[in-house]
Amino acid sequence: MENNYLENSLPMTIKDWLYYHQNRLHFRQKYRGLDMIKNPFDLIIYEELIWQVRPTVVIEIGNASGGFSLWLSDRMKMVDTNGRVITIDIDSKGDTNLYKYKSDKLISIIGDCNDIKTIGKVRDNIGGNDKVLIIEDSSHTAENTLSVLQNYKDIISVGSYFIIEDGICDILDLGVRPGPMSAVLEWIKSNSNFQIDRECERYILTYNPNGYLKRIR
Ligand SMILES: C[S@@+](CC[C@H](N)C(=O)[O-])C[C@H]1O[C@@H](n2cnc3c(N)ncnc32)[C@H](O)[C@@H]1O
Repeated sequence: MENNYLENSLPMTIKDWLYYHQNRLHFRQKYRGLDMIKNPFDLIIYEELIWQVRPTVVIEIGNASGGFSLWLSDRMKMVDTNGRVITIDIDSKGDTNLYKYKSDKLISIIGDCNDIKTIGKVRDNIGGNDKVLIIEDSSHTAENTLSVLQNYKDIISVGSYFIIEDGICDILDLGVRPGPMSAVLEWIKSNSNFQIDRECERYILTYNPNGYLKRIR
């Protein structure tokens, strides 16, 4: 794409834009110098949900380089809950990158998110009065997503969200199929405590179709 980004892009379809973002921008985005793999339209929704739900704990499952962990930690400072972020990855890169920022407000756990020991460490850092929101962004296979949904569903507080990222894999050709959206659509049939909040997809250009699950009871 040459200089006149907007003029040259007007003929793009939404699908074209999603591939453009995925191929040209997704892996170039940074937050405070650390890679953060996010669609900006979803970031706006996350910011809104954090403000609206006012969680005391946000759990990020899969942190890669840690940029989004830091983004979450900074967003938590804008709400009055004095909240914390728990971030998990099977790999240690994010943990290493976050060394300067780790504290009782930004807790990093290295381990497989579905391993009982990892889940135990997460639970050890949550109290009965905490309001918990979870963002799942790990391997994206339907099998792994289903395990995450099952293992973490009870941790989400009523009125809060279980965000399952990258259901877009089931729609576009991005490698993982069946992916997160297939898992959600199957799982939700027998988990009526959760409802898909399609309002969170109103910008259309989301990576998380059917992925914003609100715990309603
Ligand atoms: C898409 S990246 C996460 C991106 C990050 N949330 C961000 O927004 O920048 C996926 C990460 O999930 C991790 N991962 C994959 N399978 C996992 C598992 N079973 N348990 C924990 N982490 C896992 C990978 O090591 C990788 O770093």
